[in-house]
Amino acid sequence: MSVQPIVLRQIPVPVVVTPAPSLHVAIITDGNGRWASSQGLPRSAGHRAGAEAARAVIEAAPRLGIHTLTLFALSSANWQRPAHEVNAILSLLHEYLLVETSHCMDEGVRLSVIGRRDRIPATLREAIADAEALTAKGTQLHLRLAIDYSAREAIYQAACRFYKATKLSPETFSDVLAEVLHGGSTEVDLLIRTGGEQRLSDFLLWECAFAEFVFLQKRWPEFTVADLVGSLKEFQKRERTRGALPKEALAGTKVSANSSK
Ligand code: FPP
Repeated sequence: MSVQPIVLRQIPVPVVVTPAPSLHVAIITDGNGRWASSQGLPRSAGHRAGAEAARAVIEAAPRLGIHTLTLFALSSANWQRPAHEVNAILSLLHEYLLVETSHCMDEGVRLSVIGRRDRIPATLREAIADAEALTAKGTQLHLRLAIDYSAREAIYQAACRFYKATKLSPETFSDVLAEVLHGGSTEVDLLIRTGGEQRLSDFLLWECAFAEFVFLQKRWPEFTVADLVGSLKEFQKRERTRGALPKEALAGTKVSANSSK
Protein backbone atom coordinates (compact mmCIF):
# COMPACT_ATOMS: atom_id res chain seq x y z
CA MET A 1 0.00 0.00 0.00
CA SER A 2 1.51 3.37 -0.96
CA VAL A 3 1.20 6.13 1.62
CA GLN A 4 0.42 9.58 0.19
CA PRO A 5 2.42 12.56 1.47
CA ILE A 6 0.23 15.09 3.25
CA VAL A 7 0.56 18.86 3.46
CA LEU A 8 -0.07 20.59 6.77
CA ARG A 9 -1.59 23.89 5.69
CA GLN A 10 -2.00 25.50 9.10
CA ILE A 11 1.78 25.71 9.51
CA PRO A 12 3.21 29.01 8.10
CA VAL A 13 5.66 27.21 5.78
CA PRO A 14 3.79 24.17 4.36
CA VAL A 15 5.57 21.01 5.44
CA VAL A 16 5.31 17.75 3.55
CA VAL A 17 5.50 14.59 5.60
CA THR A 18 5.07 11.03 4.46
CA PRO A 19 3.22 9.48 7.37
CA ALA A 20 4.64 6.17 8.49
CA PRO A 21 1.57 4.05 9.22
CA SER A 22 0.68 3.11 12.78
CA LEU A 23 3.17 4.97 14.94
CA HIS A 24 3.04 5.13 18.71
CA VAL A 25 4.44 8.49 19.79
CA ALA A 26 4.92 9.20 23.50
CA ILE A 27 5.68 12.68 24.82
CA ILE A 28 7.14 13.82 28.12
CA THR A 29 5.49 17.23 28.26
CA ASP A 30 8.14 18.95 30.35
CA GLY A 31 8.77 22.64 30.98
CA ASN A 32 5.33 24.06 31.85
CA GLY A 33 6.56 25.55 35.12
CA ARG A 34 9.69 27.13 33.62
CA TRP A 35 7.68 28.54 30.74
CA ALA A 36 5.22 30.13 33.18
CA SER A 37 8.04 31.62 35.28
CA SER A 38 9.66 33.05 32.14
CA GLN A 39 6.35 34.84 31.42
CA GLY A 40 5.96 36.07 35.01
CA LEU A 41 2.97 33.74 35.48
CA PRO A 42 2.12 31.20 38.20
CA ARG A 43 3.07 27.58 37.45
CA SER A 44 -0.61 26.66 37.13
CA ALA A 45 -0.82 28.99 34.10
CA GLY A 46 2.01 26.96 32.55
CA HIS A 47 0.00 23.76 32.97
CA ARG A 48 -3.02 25.44 31.38
CA ALA A 49 -0.88 26.55 28.43
CA GLY A 50 0.46 22.97 28.31
CA ALA A 51 -3.06 21.61 27.94
CA GLU A 52 -3.59 23.99 24.98
CA ALA A 53 -0.36 22.76 23.34
CA ALA A 54 -1.60 19.18 23.82
CA ARG A 55 -4.88 20.01 22.08
CA ALA A 56 -3.13 21.09 18.85
CA VAL A 57 -0.87 18.04 18.84
CA ILE A 58 -3.78 15.64 19.42
CA GLU A 59 -5.71 17.21 16.55
CA ALA A 60 -2.78 16.86 14.12
CA ALA A 61 -1.66 13.36 15.20
CA PRO A 62 -3.93 11.16 13.02
CA ARG A 63 -2.96 13.10 9.87
CA LEU A 64 0.70 12.39 10.65
CA GLY A 65 0.34 8.60 10.76
CA ILE A 66 0.19 8.41 14.56
CA HIS A 67 -2.26 5.76 15.82
CA THR A 68 -1.37 6.00 19.50
CA LEU A 69 -0.30 9.14 21.34
CA THR A 70 0.67 8.88 25.01
CA LEU A 71 1.11 12.12 26.96
CA PHE A 72 2.68 12.30 30.41
CA ALA A 73 0.14 14.44 32.27
CA LEU A 74 0.92 13.57 35.91
CA SER A 75 3.79 11.44 37.16
CA SER A 76 3.44 9.54 40.43
CA ALA A 77 6.61 11.40 41.44
CA ASN A 78 4.66 14.69 41.10
CA TRP A 79 2.85 13.98 44.42
CA GLN A 80 6.00 15.39 45.97
CA ARG A 81 5.10 18.85 44.68
CA PRO A 82 3.15 21.31 46.84
CA ALA A 83 -0.49 20.20 47.24
CA HIS A 84 -1.84 23.36 45.59
CA GLU A 85 0.12 22.62 42.39
CA VAL A 86 -0.92 18.94 42.26
CA ASN A 87 -4.54 19.94 42.92
CA ALA A 88 -4.38 22.53 40.14
CA ILE A 89 -3.12 19.86 37.69
CA LEU A 90 -5.81 17.38 38.81
CA SER A 91 -8.54 20.03 38.39
CA LEU A 92 -7.16 20.96 34.98
CA LEU A 93 -7.19 17.31 33.87
CA HIS A 94 -10.76 16.93 35.13
CA GLU A 95 -11.85 20.05 33.25
CA TYR A 96 -9.95 18.85 30.18
CA LEU A 97 -11.81 15.52 30.18
CA LEU A 98 -15.19 17.20 30.62
CA VAL A 99 -14.58 19.60 27.74
CA GLU A 100 -12.72 17.29 25.36
CA THR A 101 -14.75 14.07 25.57
CA SER A 102 -17.39 15.18 23.07
CA HIS A 103 -14.68 16.59 20.80
CA CYS A 104 -12.90 13.20 20.94
CA MET A 105 -16.17 11.45 20.05
CA ASP A 106 -16.63 13.74 17.04
CA GLU A 107 -13.06 13.18 15.86
CA GLY A 108 -12.98 9.40 16.40
CA VAL A 109 -10.41 9.63 19.20
CA ARG A 110 -10.42 6.85 21.77
CA LEU A 111 -9.31 8.25 25.10
CA SER A 112 -7.74 6.11 27.82
CA VAL A 113 -5.92 6.89 31.00
CA ILE A 114 -2.95 4.85 32.17
CA GLY A 115 -1.75 4.88 35.75
CA ARG A 116 -3.09 4.39 39.25
CA ARG A 117 -6.70 5.30 39.96
CA ASP A 118 -6.84 4.78 43.71
CA ARG A 119 -5.18 8.07 44.76
CA ILE A 120 -6.88 10.57 42.45
CA PRO A 121 -10.14 12.34 43.43
CA ALA A 122 -13.29 10.24 42.93
CA THR A 123 -14.78 12.91 40.64
CA LEU A 124 -11.77 12.64 38.31
CA ARG A 125 -11.97 8.84 38.46
CA GLU A 126 -15.62 9.06 37.34
CA ALA A 127 -14.80 11.54 34.56
CA ILE A 128 -12.10 9.14 33.31
CA ALA A 129 -14.50 6.18 33.30
CA ASP A 130 -17.12 8.26 31.42
CA ALA A 131 -14.60 9.56 28.88
CA GLU A 132 -13.26 6.05 28.27
CA ALA A 133 -16.74 4.58 27.83
CA LEU A 134 -17.99 7.37 25.56
CA THR A 135 -14.93 7.33 23.28
CA ALA A 136 -14.36 3.55 23.26
CA LYS A 137 -15.33 3.20 19.59
CA GLY A 138 -12.84 5.80 18.30
CA THR A 139 -10.57 4.45 15.58
CA GLN A 140 -8.67 7.53 14.31
CA LEU A 141 -6.35 7.89 17.29
CA HIS A 142 -5.80 6.19 20.63
CA LEU A 143 -5.01 9.04 23.01
CA ARG A 144 -3.58 7.86 26.31
CA LEU A 145 -3.10 10.29 29.16
CA ALA A 146 -0.71 9.09 31.84
CA ILE A 147 -2.10 10.25 35.19
CA ASP A 148 -0.52 9.22 38.51
CA TYR A 149 1.69 7.08 36.32
CA SER A 150 4.94 5.35 37.27
CA ALA A 151 6.42 2.79 34.88
CA ARG A 152 8.25 1.04 37.74
CA GLU A 153 5.07 0.79 39.78
CA ALA A 154 3.18 -0.63 36.76
CA ILE A 155 5.93 -3.18 36.06
CA TYR A 156 6.01 -4.15 39.73
CA GLN A 157 2.21 -4.56 39.86
CA ALA A 158 2.28 -6.60 36.65
CA ALA A 159 5.11 -8.78 38.01
CA CYS A 160 3.08 -9.52 41.16
CA ARG A 161 0.07 -10.52 39.03
CA PHE A 162 2.23 -12.40 36.54
CA TYR A 163 3.73 -14.50 39.33
CA LYS A 164 0.35 -16.18 39.73
CA ALA A 165 -0.08 -16.79 35.98
CA THR A 166 0.71 -20.18 34.52
CA LYS A 167 2.01 -19.23 31.07
CA LEU A 168 5.24 -17.35 31.49
CA SER A 169 6.63 -15.45 28.50
CA PRO A 170 7.52 -11.81 27.71
CA GLU A 171 4.36 -11.61 25.56
CA THR A 172 2.04 -12.70 28.37
CA PHE A 173 3.90 -10.31 30.68
CA SER A 174 3.04 -7.48 28.24
CA ASP A 175 -0.61 -8.54 28.39
CA VAL A 176 -0.58 -8.44 32.20
CA LEU A 177 1.12 -5.03 32.12
CA ALA A 178 -1.62 -3.80 29.77
CA GLU A 179 -4.25 -4.98 32.27
CA VAL A 180 -2.53 -3.23 35.17
CA LEU A 181 -2.27 -0.01 33.17
CA HIS A 182 -5.96 0.00 32.10
CA GLY A 183 -5.16 1.77 28.80
CA GLY A 184 -3.13 -1.03 27.20
CA SER A 185 0.58 -1.35 26.58
CA THR A 186 2.03 -0.96 23.11
CA GLU A 187 5.64 -0.51 22.01
CA VAL A 188 6.66 3.13 21.65
CA ASP A 189 8.18 4.07 18.28
CA LEU A 190 9.14 7.65 19.06
CA LEU A 191 9.61 9.27 22.47
CA ILE A 192 9.75 13.06 22.50
CA ARG A 193 10.76 15.04 25.58
CA THR A 194 10.52 18.81 25.70
CA GLY A 195 12.12 21.11 28.27
CA GLY A 196 15.81 20.32 27.70
CA GLU A 197 16.23 17.34 30.05
CA GLN A 198 17.38 14.02 28.59
CA ARG A 199 15.92 11.31 30.79
CA LEU A 200 12.90 8.97 30.93
CA SER A 201 11.65 9.94 34.39
CA ASP A 202 9.88 6.63 35.00
CA PHE A 203 7.81 6.88 31.78
CA LEU A 204 7.02 3.73 29.73
CA LEU A 205 10.23 1.90 30.67
CA TRP A 206 9.06 -1.44 29.24
CA GLU A 207 7.41 0.01 26.12
CA CYS A 208 10.40 2.21 25.20
CA ALA A 209 12.82 -0.72 24.91
CA PHE A 210 13.37 0.00 21.20
CA ALA A 211 11.99 3.53 20.95
CA GLU A 212 13.80 6.34 19.15
CA PHE A 213 14.32 9.42 21.33
CA VAL A 214 14.07 13.08 20.35
CA PHE A 215 14.96 15.66 23.02
CA LEU A 216 13.98 19.28 22.49
CA GLN A 217 15.03 22.44 24.34
CA LYS A 218 11.61 24.04 23.84
CA ARG A 219 9.32 24.04 26.87
CA TRP A 220 6.06 22.13 26.37
CA PRO A 221 3.72 25.16 26.05
CA GLU A 222 5.91 26.33 23.12
CA PHE A 223 5.67 22.99 21.32
CA THR A 224 3.76 23.22 18.04
CA VAL A 225 2.57 20.87 15.32
CA ALA A 226 5.64 22.00 13.32
CA ASP A 227 7.83 20.61 16.15
CA LEU A 228 5.93 17.31 16.00
CA VAL A 229 6.48 17.21 12.24
CA GLY A 230 10.19 17.98 12.75
CA SER A 231 10.47 15.17 15.31
CA LEU A 232 8.75 12.73 12.93
CA LYS A 233 11.14 13.72 10.15
CA GLU A 234 14.07 13.08 12.49
CA PHE A 235 12.50 9.70 13.36
CA GLN A 236 12.17 8.82 9.67
CA LYS A 237 15.93 9.34 9.21
CA ARG A 238 16.76 6.80 11.90
CA GLU A 239 17.43 3.19 10.96
CA ARG A 240 15.70 0.92 13.47
CA THR A 241 17.62 -2.34 13.73
CA ARG A 242 16.21 -3.50 17.10
CA GLY A 243 19.60 -5.00 17.90
CA ALA A 244 20.00 -6.68 14.51
CA LEU A 245 22.18 -5.34 11.68
CA PRO A 246 21.09 -2.76 9.09
CA LYS A 247 19.02 -4.39 6.31
CA GLU A 248 21.80 -4.48 3.68
CA ALA A 249 24.25 -6.08 6.12
CA LEU A 250 21.63 -8.63 7.19
CA ALA A 251 20.88 -10.06 3.72
CA GLY A 252 21.53 -13.79 3.88
CA THR A 253 23.27 -13.72 7.26
CA LYS A 254 20.46 -14.43 9.75
CA VAL A 255 21.63 -16.50 12.73
CA SER A 256 19.35 -17.79 15.48
CA ALA A 257 20.09 -17.00 19.13
CA ASN A 258 21.14 -20.56 19.93
CA SER A 259 23.34 -21.12 16.83
CA SER A 260 26.89 -22.12 17.70
CA LYS A 261 29.25 -19.13 17.71
C1 FPP B 1 5.54 19.20 33.21
O1 FPP B 1 5.99 20.50 33.44
C2 FPP B 1 4.08 19.05 33.30
C3 FPP B 1 3.38 18.44 34.32
C4 FPP B 1 4.06 17.88 35.47
C5 FPP B 1 1.90 18.27 34.43
C6 FPP B 1 0.86 18.83 33.54
C7 FPP B 1 0.93 18.47 32.09
C8 FPP B 1 0.16 19.05 31.17
C9 FPP B 1 -0.86 20.05 31.56
C10 FPP B 1 0.35 18.72 29.72
C11 FPP B 1 -0.56 17.64 29.21
C12 FPP B 1 -1.97 17.94 29.47
C13 FPP B 1 -3.05 17.42 28.93
C14 FPP B 1 -4.36 17.91 29.36
C15 FPP B 1 -3.03 16.38 27.93
P1 FPP B 1 6.75 20.86 34.79
O2 FPP B 1 5.79 21.43 35.75
O3 FPP B 1 7.53 19.69 35.29
O4 FPP B 1 7.72 21.98 34.25
P2 FPP B 1 9.13 22.43 34.85
O5 FPP B 1 10.09 21.31 34.63
O6 FPP B 1 9.46 23.63 34.03
O7 FPP B 1 8.92 22.75 36.30
